[in-house]
Amino acid sequence: MSRVLVTSALPYINGDKQLGNLVGSMLPADAYARFMRQRGHEVMFICATDEHGTPAELAAAEAGQDVAAYCAEMHEVQKKLGEGFGLSFDFFGRSSSPQNRKLTQAFAGKLAEAGLIKEVSEKQVYSNADGRFLPDRYIIGTCPNCGFDRARGDQCENCTKQLNPTDLIDPRSSISGSTDLEVRETKHLYLRQSEMRDKLRAWIDSKTDWPVLSTSIARKWLDDGDGLQDRGITRDLDWGVPVKKGEDVWPGMEGKVFYVWFDAPIEYIAATAEWAEATGQDDTAWERWWRSDRGGEDVRYVQIMGKDNVPFHTLSFPVTIMGINSVDGDGEQTAPWKLVDHIKSFNWLTYEGGKFSTSQKRGVFMNQALDLLPGDYWRWWLLSNAPESSDSDFTWAGFQNGVNKDLADVLGNFVSRVTKFCRSKFGEVAPQGGELGALEDELARELDKRLTAYVEALEAIEIRKAAQELRAAWVAGNEYLQKAEPWAVFKTDEAAAAVQIRTALNLIRLYAIISKPFIPDAADKMAAALGLEEDALLDWPRSAKDALTALPPGHTFTVPDNLFGKIDDAQREAWEAQFGGGS
Ligand code: MF3
Ligand code: ZN
Repeated sequence: MSRVLVTSALPYINGDKQLGNLVGSMLPADAYARFMRQRGHEVMFICATDEHGTPAELAAAEAGQDVAAYCAEMHEVQKKLGEGFGLSFDFFGRSSSPQNRKLTQAFAGKLAEAGLIKEVSEKQVYSNADGRFLPDRYIIGTCPNCGFDRARGDQCENCTKQLNPTDLIDPRSSISGSTDLEVRETKHLYLRQSEMRDKLRAWIDSKTDWPVLSTSIARKWLDDGDGLQDRGITRDLDWGVPVKKGEDVWPGMEGKVFYVWFDAPIEYIAATAEWAEATGQDDTAWERWWRSDRGGEDVRYVQIMGKDNVPFHTLSFPVTIMGINSVDGDGEQTAPWKLVDHIKSFNWLTYEGGKFSTSQKRGVFMNQALDLLPGDYWRWWLLSNAPESSDSDFTWAGFQNGVNKDLADVLGNFVSRVTKFCRSKFGEVAPQGGELGALEDELARELDKRLTAYVEALEAIEIRKAAQELRAAWVAGNEYLQKAEPWAVFKTDEAAAAVQIRTALNLIRLYAIISKPFIPDAADKMAAALGLEEDALLDWPRSAKDALTALPPGHTFTVPDNLFGKIDDAQREAWEAQFGGGS
């Protein structure tokens, strides 16, 4: 048993949450965290809302809400969604928490001490009417390239040309509409990450077991001349972590906040501090996950994210941690803060061959999905089709097929047949009698093969492979029943049918355990039908033989409701029409 720290990329507070957000980070992280708990490890599984930055401010303004109130509300919305999808976070924090403010400011102070921060003077647009500097995207005007009259200072949405605010014709503030703008000189902080190129490269080179998707993106940025430029880590916004050097004022930085991508990953750490506070524990409780000088040396830290997040997690955030470690080593320890041990990244999920799009009402989003079907249906399809080695396409036909075949026909039907047959012939109790024979041996051999492969795949966070092995274990049960034919055998040899049904009931118990990382609600229903306590699902099988005899003759059960309903064609077509599928 060891300790495993799992973080999922933090979803932005604003905007509709796509199924792609779910399958690219939160869902595989959840399956992995659940599996690790079941394997007896101590797990800390963390996520949070990523709340700062311009998009959050704009979304709040659009909703006519104060940004803090908007974030508080949306945080609750996302937390509920997570619960609906069965995400088993140990804590779901907020990057706007006091803990993150304190830690981000402390880290910035340490980076300055380490000589990794430089101050740079820049020219930036100031709005007299708004009384503030405007980030590029807050300035709108006419595009010099295509004439679009609402082009943003960073890019024209119409012709996609990248712009500077000074390129715009008739520039104005998108906040107030005021044209009373002037260019002023202002200072910003830059993280000197280019200094760390060699150190980063050596570190990435040492990660030989990372998925290529993670290392190739990191290498691309390391090798590209511009890829590791020093990066501005401050912004002229109101909403964010105020720039301070630890607890001290940072001269010249008054009224500025840290860039959202600086404070967001620090929230991985701060969220555990939020967790400690919420559970009435002191700092030692969370520090033992993050600091090798506070008991964290045996922690394995795994990050899970979409591929667009990889540069920040392989370059900028490690620079922050390495930089702090260069000044924060107390006593013997030179690297107290944990660097990530493993980065698992995912490609994109597309929708019916195209993009999910909120504005075009194309695709099904997290909140809508749960109105249609419970979390397990989505979990199964998304995980078993995770965009692991390439992008995956969500289609309603594929979804219908996966649900109907795998969940309803293979797993659900097995559970229902076995429990109902047993009830009608033997009562709601695992029947006495009979001896395990060749068929059960064959079943055990097949299951052992599947279980070994399943465990290996989940340990490596190979989600699709794991789903295949799980499905194969369900199929093996069906094949066993097909061959054994207890309903026929019963007519001539009751004892022989009894051992078959007892074996099949044990298969349900086994399925409850091994299916839990993928479909936790169904797993709980199977366990409840067998009268098992929640802890019974932590009892990972040592061997298939063991598992097939765990429930003794005389063990009582109840017939559960159907685990999964099927999606019929009419329903599928209605959803295709409603969510813009098929086309
Ligand atoms: N909010 C970012 C996104 O959705 C991810 C932030 S991950 C973290 O792309 F590092 F900031 F935590
Ligand atoms: Zn344009």
